[in-house]
Amino acid sequence: MFSHDIIKKRILVFGANGMLGQRAIKFYSGKDNIELLGCSVEEKPVYDNADYTCCDLTKREHVKKVIFDFYPDYIINAAAYTNVDKSESEREAAWKLNVKGVEYLAEACRVLDSRLVHISSDYIFDGRRGPYSETDTPNPLGYYGRTKLASENALKISGAMYSIIRTNVLYGAAQSRPDFVRWVVNSLRAGNVIRIVTDQINNPTFLDDLVQGISKIIEFNKHGIFNIGGREFLSRYDFTLLIAGYFKLNKNLIQPIITSELNQPAPRPLKSGLLTLKAETELDYKPTSIVESLSIMRKELSL
Ligand SMILES: NC(=O)c1ccc[n+]([C@@H]2O[C@H](COP(=O)([O-])OP(=O)(O)OC[C@H]3O[C@@H](n4cnc5c(N)ncnc54)[C@H](OP(=O)(O)O)[C@@H]3O)[C@@H](O)[C@H]2O)c1
Repeated sequence: MFSHDIIKKRILVFGANGMLGQRAIKFYSGKDNIELLGCSVEEKPVYDNADYTCCDLTKREHVKKVIFDFYPDYIINAAAYTNVDKSESEREAAWKLNVKGVEYLAEACRVLDSRLVHISSDYIFDGRRGPYSETDTPNPLGYYGRTKLASENALKISGAMYSIIRTNVLYGAAQSRPDFVRWVVNSLRAGNVIRIVTDQINNPTFLDDLVQGISKIIEFNKHGIFNIGGREFLSRYDFTLLIAGYFKLNKNLIQPIITSELNQPAPRPLKSGLLTLKAETELDYKPTSIVESLSIMRKELSL
């Protein structure tokens, strides 16, 4: 008997080698009801237990070919130009990937009726009055934030079926570049003093919680904007103390500073963070606590 359950969902992940992309590939690979293809600008995949192809998201014809060949039901866009400070000087590169790339994805999605799950950021807000809900008014401070807001606006006028997930401060057990948690652990273990800001407030997001949010949007076929963030709202300094406490590291090496002392090229939203009530009620999203997330990371990465 032909049953709906045996029809596989076809999922294409752009940015498959990035922090989020890797975790999405790990989550979906080997699932019976999923046909998965990972895609990144690099030659080789981080996880090689899923099909993989190399594609530069800034090359319109190439993007179109990869999508038309695979004919996905869903595209997860985890690719982005994520260097916030470099985005100030490398504006063309940041725009090409974060805005034009999203337009190319949306174009193909519109033609094939594929659904695009796109990832945006709390950096679309100015950080004066966070935490933010999905309906708050964006006002990005820096160029990276402007590209992420422009990507959202590009989707809104694209005619494609899409959902946008806004998230903030990602951490978790990705294998490529060390995330904030591993940087803190490695630095403190090496006996290095680290200067951490006390005036940036967020709800740091465990990567696997973000994957949970994405998978529920796909499962429940949801449209529109959803915030996905962590359970606890705290300063980066308090987050660092928590990490040091959990791994029994020397807290005296953590020096409190304020953001303006860093003289970074891109201004940061200070009082930020994302309220997740909509995701909790509409997606049954259940964020993991920081301590639980750290224990998962410790096991998986042997930290
Ligand atoms: N990290 C955070 O704290 C944070 C916070 C809020 C929102 N977000 C958003 O969350 C999403 C995932 O972030 P992430 O931290 O996982 O990013 P990431 O680790 O920096 O990964 C980005 C991915 O994009 C790929 N990429 C770069 N240039 C490309 C191109 N021309 N064509 C195709 N792919 C290309 C990268 O490939 P290479 O490895 O080859 O460069 C990498 O796989 C992004 O949309 C980001 O804006 C992140």
